[in-house]
Amino acid sequence: MKRTPYSRQTIDESDIQAVEQVLRSDFLSQGPHISAFEQALQNYLNVKHAIVCSSGTAALHLSYLALELNGAFAFTTPITFAATANMLQAVGAHIRFVDVDPITGILNLEALENALKDVPASAKKIIMPVSLQGIPADLPAIRALAQKYTARVVEDAAHSFGAEYQDGQTYKSASCAHTDCATLSFHPLKTITCGEGGAVTTNHDALAQTIRLLLNHGLQAQAGTYVRKQICWGYNYRLSELQAALGNSQLKRIDAFVAKRRAIARYYEQRLSQKPYTSHLTCVPFHETSAYHLFVLHFHNPSARDVVYRQLKEKGIETGVHYVPLYHFDLYRKCVGNLSLPGAEAYYKGCLSIPIYPQLSQSDQDFVLEQLAACCQTL
Ligand SMILES: Cc1ncc(COP(=O)(O)O)c(C=O)c1O
Repeated sequence: MKRTPYSRQTIDESDIQAVEQVLRSDFLSQGPHISAFEQALQNYLNVKHAIVCSSGTAALHLSYLALELNGAFAFTTPITFAATANMLQAVGAHIRFVDVDPITGILNLEALENALKDVPASAKKIIMPVSLQGIPADLPAIRALAQKYTARVVEDAAHSFGAEYQDGQTYKSASCAHTDCATLSFHPLKTITCGEGGAVTTNHDALAQTIRLLLNHGLQAQAGTYVRKQICWGYNYRLSELQAALGNSQLKRIDAFVAKRRAIARYYEQRLSQKPYTSHLTCVPFHETSAYHLFVLHFHNPSARDVVYRQLKEKGIETGVHYVPLYHFDLYRKCVGNLSLPGAEAYYKGCLSIPIYPQLSQSDQDFVLEQLAACCQTL
């Protein structure tokens, strides 16, 4: 049976050659491909610093460490991959889960302002929007709230590399035009991949310097001597040369990858706004500037979502629920108590992500739609 995953990497001969060249070179780590990849990311995003690291999770950890969030109040969404919040726990922040839009799953600004009002004015605060599905969170409005309540902002752009948003002019998600930092993931299912990998982007020189130290043991080389200074406690969160070469090769095709994802999303949206689908589901309205990491359906009836998930799996079509609200997990319940946020519950209740990735052919898309239609007939 043919397997249709919900996402997968797109690797071509140029990627293979880029990695092979590194294998034949002198440096497998800490060589020229790291700085080349960082420079290419900076140019693409129009951001001052891009610091590559071993994963999106490492990027989150590094940015939270650099912002010194121990004891800070962290306002984030429960509709995200665990890493966004797990790393907040890891640095000792107090998590405040904020409700989301029931359709996009993105932070609700009114709920955010209410949550910000609810903590002492003098407390240290961070807002952690996630640009879920590939749709940038409303970063200009979030920045305005951050200024009003003196909070820092880090965008989790793991899903939205390649997406844009408007604020008078066009900005890229993770460009940090309205945030202190942003984090990217180069996991195989993301817009571009390094196998595993991530990056922190920022326009702040001091933050960039701290992040570079933290990702390399906290050690600073001194020119002209073997002696290194231990500036802070640090980690080994470095990306390898092999991964950087792959990332750089992939980055050259990012616009084509995103264009293909958008074309698939447009086709799905047109087909899904007809019968038999409309009796059972709605899809998230088409977002022109989304990077379309995910294409999300909302089933009117949550049990229908679970039936369709199983039936599609039997046909080799893999779908996903992105995400179960994090406060449903026992470990989070212990930290934040029994929460039930209406927008997050409504989002989660019937959501299902169907396959979307650049190499999903027209016949693959039609197969997904046909099988989905067949499921709808049985509901
Ligand atoms: C929203 C979000 N943030 C962070 C991460 C963590 O990225 P990584 O898998 O590269 O550690 C992911 C990965 O799936 C994610 O989806």
